[in-house]
Amino acid sequence: MSHYLFDSAAAQAAGRFSALESCYDPVSRRQMELTGLATGWRCLEVGGGSASLGDWLGERVGPRGEVTVTELEPRWAASRHRPDHVRLLRHDIVHDPLPGMDYDLVHARLVLLHLPERLEVLEKLVAALRPGGWLVLEEFDCGWTPVLAAPDASAAALFDRVHTALTDLVAEAGADPLWGRRTLGAMAAAGLREIAASTYAEAWPGGSTGIALHRHNTDQVADGLARSGVSAAELARFQALLRHPEFVVNSYPLISARGRRSHESEKDGPR
Ligand SMILES: C[S@@+](CC[C@H](N)C(=O)[O-])C[C@H]1O[C@@H](n2cnc3c(N)ncnc32)[C@H](O)[C@@H]1O
Repeated sequence: MSHYLFDSAAAQAAGRFSALESCYDPVSRRQMELTGLATGWRCLEVGGGSASLGDWLGERVGPRGEVTVTELEPRWAASRHRPDHVRLLRHDIVHDPLPGMDYDLVHARLVLLHLPERLEVLEKLVAALRPGGWLVLEEFDCGWTPVLAAPDASAAALFDRVHTALTDLVAEAGADPLWGRRTLGAMAAAGLREIAASTYAEAWPGGSTGIALHRHNTDQVADGLARSGVSAAELARFQALLRHPEFVVNSYPLISARGRRSHESEKDGPR
């Protein structure tokens, strides 16, 4: 069984996917373009959520290419129409065998962060690449979310308190909230070459699409937050801050790392 805290069967998943799509898809598309993504490529999108990126990959590679989107809970992705060369699979990347091999590109955003078995999954994804194929992993660093503006002196402390309780819950479920800063090193240790990374962040004002991610996440685990000592009144004040036009917080920094399997067909270097 997965330890994923934000079960995608819950109603809040739709809002979460929509916030991620609108804030981060343009970044992710640029990162995948940097690999030389071309017509005819075979791609694997792991834990694809709403499959917005998998569907975009389908357009980029065209019908001579092939895209497989995997997802533990594919109900949201299944509601979108897609062409035959884009396949959606209910699939657990930890326990199920890979749906294919010899991919030109494997991409996962905000999936390995949540998996206690992330290093084993990383090895699995590297093994799924063709020689010369690319792995692009994009992960948050949840340790850098400074409050940039606040309507009063207590607001930043309230945000930090509730956000820390949320991050602790995520970590208790087996996630690594700082995985973003460790991703590139792990990819190098897994034997990938031509390693590179960049980090994207923006300011999220109260009421914006991005800041709603905190609302969906705290809504979904409100019971856990209460058990951690966050009172209902504190949670209500936190959620009001997320709508306040004078409140601004830094988005989660998204670290996008890419690396390439060596061109030799034998198993790559240090593991
Ligand atoms: C934070 S969401 C990110 C969704 C999407 N990648 C995005 O960035 O918009 C994490 C996703 O990983 C999926 N997931 C969690 N554990 C998984 C597993 N073991 N195998 C496949 N998908 C998994 C969840 O269902 C969820 O859709």
